[in-house]
Amino acid sequence: MTKSLNAIAQKLMEPGKGILAADESEGTIAKRFAKINLPNSLDLRRDYREMLFRSTNAMTNYISGVILTEETLEQSAADGASFRAILADADVIPGIKVDRGAFPMPGDNGEKITEGLDGLRQRLERYAALGAGFAKWRAVITINDVAPTRNNIRANAHALARYAILCQEAGIVPIVEPEVVGDGDPGNHSLERSASVTGEVLENVFKELRLAGVDLSGMLLKPNMVLPGVNSRERPTYEDVAKRTVAVLREHVPAAVPGIAFLSGGQTDEEATAHLSAMNQIGGKPWPLTFSYGRALQNVALRTWAGRRENFPQAQAAFSHRAHMNSLAALGTWTGEVDRAA
Ligand code: G3H
Repeated sequence: MTKSLNAIAQKLMEPGKGILAADESEGTIAKRFAKINLPNSLDLRRDYREMLFRSTNAMTNYISGVILTEETLEQSAADGASFRAILADADVIPGIKVDRGAFPMPGDNGEKITEGLDGLRQRLERYAALGAGFAKWRAVITINDVAPTRNNIRANAHALARYAILCQEAGIVPIVEPEVVGDGDPGNHSLERSASVTGEVLENVFKELRLAGVDLSGMLLKPNMVLPGVNSRERPTYEDVAKRTVAVLREHVPAAVPGIAFLSGGQTDEEATAHLSAMNQIGGKPWPLTFSYGRALQNVALRTWAGRRENFPQAQAAFSHRAHMNSLAALGTWTGEVDRAA
């Protein structure tokens, strides 16, 4: 079993490819649709995902796996073709978000704890039978004047480890996602603070993963990049961010991990691409680095689609362009000129 988990992880990290995070919960997709004045209906959600999954150029050339929701894992396109069959045709591995969301942590620190462990073993068996090759669980770590607390970091790390070992038991590769979120207030969330909190979180996550007996060669890490908070006045260069992020990862992520696939976390499309490319220009890293973006892959495609099937070709072209740019970034060969010229 260990060998096949590692084989799935390697395939997800195929050079020049990355993961499309299309696992927005109903609440999150409702917010994305509201921004372009669309209601959150089942048909629109299906059409939108169909537009993405049928972007043949992007899916066959630049995307190795797609993170689905429970709804999409069993859903079909308007013409009846199942999404799983569409992904299989493009040789893309289906994955599944299995956490039930981040909820307020007891106490008054503004922190969150991710739920979803109850019944997870049974759910994973079902997802594996439906063909899911990997899964995702997102822990949210908050920075403010009293957070993160050790209690919250430990609780989230422990839940990630429980999830990861259950995935491996079911033959599913766990993507372990501890996200230090960037919307803390500016006074508390400097680049420096982001580096120290990210380091502490990763240290605790790997301690718990080892304690739980997780095979590190059969998982992937999905971390945040080391960035100042979105409201901070600090403006580090792409290279600064790349160096700090790689330094923190080097210190805390074991070389046995077969790959790291970043979340975009509210960065602009260009920032997310530029940071990834700059990191991949740094030599001597023990693990490949790629993308597992939601918003930074979908922003333009979502607006171009605008809820209309007749806009599929233009939206798919927009999505393919972004996927192509991130593919170049995964190889460390992206430039702003290439991006804008296209
Ligand atoms: O859990 C987070 C998503 O999978 C990635 O989304 O790239 O928009 O932060 P994002």
